[in-house]
Amino acid sequence: MCSVARRTYSAAMTGSANEHDIARIDTARTDAPSHKLGDTFGGRFPANEGSGGPARDRTKPAGTDPIDAVDAPSSLSSLTRGASGTGAAGQESPDSPGAGTDLTKESESYTHGHHESVLRSHRRRTAANSAAFLLPHLLSDMTLLDVGCGPGTVTVDLAERLTQGSVVGVDASDDVLESARGLADAHGTKNITFEHANAYELPFEDDSFDVVFAHQLLQHLSDPVAALREMKRVAKPGGFVAVRDADYEAMTWYPESAELTEWNMLYHEVTHAYGFEPDAGRRLASWVRDAGFDPATIEPGASVWCYATPDDRTWWGGLWAERCTESNFAVQAKDSGLADDVALEQLAQGWREWAAAPDGWFAVLNGEVLARA
Ligand SMILES: C[S@@+](CC[C@H](N)C(=O)[O-])C[C@H]1O[C@@H](n2cnc3c(N)ncnc32)[C@H](O)[C@@H]1O
Repeated sequence: MCSVARRTYSAAMTGSANEHDIARIDTARTDAPSHKLGDTFGGRFPANEGSGGPARDRTKPAGTDPIDAVDAPSSLSSLTRGASGTGAAGQESPDSPGAGTDLTKESESYTHGHHESVLRSHRRRTAANSAAFLLPHLLSDMTLLDVGCGPGTVTVDLAERLTQGSVVGVDASDDVLESARGLADAHGTKNITFEHANAYELPFEDDSFDVVFAHQLLQHLSDPVAALREMKRVAKPGGFVAVRDADYEAMTWYPESAELTEWNMLYHEVTHAYGFEPDAGRRLASWVRDAGFDPATIEPGASVWCYATPDDRTWWGGLWAERCTESNFAVQAKDSGLADDVALEQLAQGWREWAAAPDGWFAVLNGEVLARA
């Protein structure tokens, strides 16, 4: 095992600590003290390859780790790398992230999980703030599939715009689908259904939908290109495939905060450990091209969410404070040996302080791509 630089918080560190309060030590991963945070990266975040994620023995199927007990998509048939008809088969080297994993089990490792603090984030999403790049292309009689629809706020909003058309939302989590159905019922939205499905194996015929949309999904998949091929398969020829994902390294904030910097690094480490790409936004166009879309039809772009009002800061900082200690992210950070409760609580405190800062400002850069199937 190679020696890596470690970053450690002092147990006595207070919430007002800055970069200088963080003791940095070089030690082997195995010598790491109990409440340290993740590796440092020499100024850059590691790409998936060789990021050294300790969480999973990648020779084991994903479903064999304790964390994988969450939200098992048990109704899906077996779809393993090397056996997929979607094009994922055999394209990964044996040591690439997630190689050898059962892709039908992959959402069990979904970094955020569906803790209330996570759903609080997703429920703020609307078609206007999350799918503006798609809206000008929608016609009222179109059929639309939303892959990884989560609690369905964007999905329901889209259905209400497709007054003569229909929408299907799919997700690998039954709990979140129940929440989405409840939302549609509460809105009285009739032209929408929700189904349990895996992005790698969509239960639809070829050429089924005018629009296939996925919002903040691809960053959570170890093989986003395979999922995009599957999205292309179920889109009608000439139909739209539209994807949008955040780019964590491009997130920026004020005032400076050692804890938020550390949170962002830890987030990269945890997601890389599980074989996912948190800097998905910048990669979407490349993934779409790799999935076989005609480059002439690919329209890449970007847009931001910005949280700077007192209400937005309370909401965004509060939910991330909670996510640092309560969500699946916290479980995975601890499960992979990258942080412990003390360190996570320090990050949560950093989020609370950012939220309370009168000049607090946070921007999330989202990559987006529209392409024709
Ligand atoms: C970040 S949430 C986005 C939810 C929604 N699109 C939104 O923007 O509010 C990602 C969603 O993808 C789902 N998911 C993760 N892996 C999946 C897979 N392999 N197939 C289908 N859904 C998956 C998760 O359960 C989760 O609800």
